[in-house]
Amino acid sequence: MINIIEPRFFEEEKQAIVQILESHKITRGEWTKFFEESFAKYLGVKYAFTVCSGTVALFIALKALKVEGERVIVPAMSFMATIDAVYLAGGIPIVVDVDEYYTMDPNQLEDAVKRYNPKVVIPVHLYGQPADMQAINYLSEKYGFVVLEDAAQAHGAEFFGKKVGSLGHLSAFSFYASKNVPMGEGGVIATNDDKIAKEVKKWIDFGEHPAFNVRITEFQAAIGAIQLKHLDERNRRRREIAKRYSESINSSFIHPTEREGAYHVYHLYTLRHKERDRIISLLKENGIDARVYYSYLLSELRGAEHLPLTNAERFKKEVFSIPVHPYLTEEEVEKIIHSLKAVEVFV
Ligand SMILES: Cc1ncc(COP(=O)(O)O)c(C=O)c1O
Repeated sequence: MINIIEPRFFEEEKQAIVQILESHKITRGEWTKFFEESFAKYLGVKYAFTVCSGTVALFIALKALKVEGERVIVPAMSFMATIDAVYLAGGIPIVVDVDEYYTMDPNQLEDAVKRYNPKVVIPVHLYGQPADMQAINYLSEKYGFVVLEDAAQAHGAEFFGKKVGSLGHLSAFSFYASKNVPMGEGGVIATNDDKIAKEVKKWIDFGEHPAFNVRITEFQAAIGAIQLKHLDERNRRRREIAKRYSESINSSFIHPTEREGAYHVYHLYTLRHKERDRIISLLKENGIDARVYYSYLLSELRGAEHLPLTNAERFKKEVFSIPVHPYLTEEEVEKIIHSLKAVEVFV
């Protein structure tokens, strides 16, 4: 089977793990410090706080922003953690539609902002594509809400030359095993804002008020730091494969396109087709792991209030993703292209 996602680790990671074991310093050591510094530098922000998952990164970010009883706007399409974190932090989620790039529709966002006066808006850079941060930041200045980027799927993505995760007031990343920077489990809250950083630290460091232990271990930090070093070259490979797909599979499939000004990092290569369920089973029969991300909308999943979700309702029935990870061989890429062309004849 050609896996849809396949994290790989090499000699460098193995050596680091052995070095950590031999050093007896397995938590709160140099690797964690180094990873936080490297990640902040990579994004071009002042602060990057490691936590144990992307969900916890979103949760602590929302706690730091004091969203209890406040409205928080999320897009209809994302992994469920985006909305769950809002509930867990005591916020009231409002769900808006996505645009043709599968990210928050800024036009509908403005309607929702006028109607609900949210404290926070969470654009999600879904599948590795930056949300329209120019439009969202413009609205943030106009209406005064805080922008928390959910960048769990977009390590290294850029919008007009700036890294996602550095475009809003703060951002949350995940380093779950499937992500473009995998460390098993892990997360980061990143920000340039001193006041926000201070509030975030209260939830992470013991002392000022009840806090959690949300730390990662030195093993995770080392794997993350080493994977981060190779992120740009691996994202380039993802883009190369994506280009091959969009140029070679010229048919009834709707391919992902890059938003103007965007550097898409193809965490997932997500197409659309009305017969997607039959296509997925045929691909699986051919040894290709194709999957649906996601078959639910956040509003229906958790019964949240929402605006009309015309695009998302259609997309959730049509989207499916094919392998685009950087370790695909040329033969595997060819096989995927060939299989997609072949299955089309049957549907
Ligand atoms: C968009 C999005 N947000 C949040 C998360 C939560 O991250 P984690 O699984 O590390 O808790 C994920 C990934 O799993 C995600 O894809």
